Amino acid sequence: MKFFVDTANVDEIRELADMGMLDGVTTNPSLINKAGHDFIETITEICKVVDGPVSAEVASTDYETMMKEGEKLAQIASNVCVKVPLTPAGLKVGKQLVDNGQDINVTLCFSAAQALLAAKIGATYISPFVGRLDDIGQEGMSLVSDIVDIYERYDHIHTQVLAASVRGPQHVVQAALAGSHVVTVPPKVLHQMFNHPLTKSGLDQFVADWKATGQSIL
Ligand code: G3P
Repeated sequence: MKFFVDTANVDEIRELADMGMLDGVTTNPSLINKAGHDFIETITEICKVVDGPVSAEVASTDYETMMKEGEKLAQIASNVCVKVPLTPAGLKVGKQLVDNGQDINVTLCFSAAQALLAAKIGATYISPFVGRLDDIGQEGMSLVSDIVDIYERYDHIHTQVLAASVRGPQHVVQAALAGSHVVTVPPKVLHQMFNHPLTKSGLDQFVADWKATGQSIL
């Protein structure tokens, strides 16, 4: 399963890329707002840090403007993946971009029916939002599982499932068990994945015992 990081913070992206954790990046207008820098400059910089796909989302909702935005974003770098919303206009834009050879990520997916529409236009990625479904009392990961099952039944579907709106390490594990092709993880969650109390206590013990030997490797 590929790991994307869900942030527009370039420092966090650089740190995780250096650790060998990153296959790509996803951003959205809220994350751009949180990062607080110019959108185009931020995406340009992220594309230089990461070789893999960098999702950059259109901001408008009407077809004409979204199309222009998508074309502009696509020109930033060869690894830009244009993110479009799962609306009729969004998929119309997505279809045109796909026909032009552009990778796209269809976002704001909350049902398997919507995922079928994204596959129909040949989307590169479909992003089911797990945490936001959990928030309204639904089982978000079941959606990931359903989409993976459906897509696997059809050889002509090449759309990859990108589990999004991830809230903790358990979501990452569940996405892997469901067969999700990609998971996009907030930096905080990626760091949480390292944690286990037995790892910490075990390392503390090894450090103490090594000190007691009085030896040095170097
Ligand atoms: O980038 C899309 C998605 O991951 C957003 O997550 O936490 O705002 O529901 P969240």
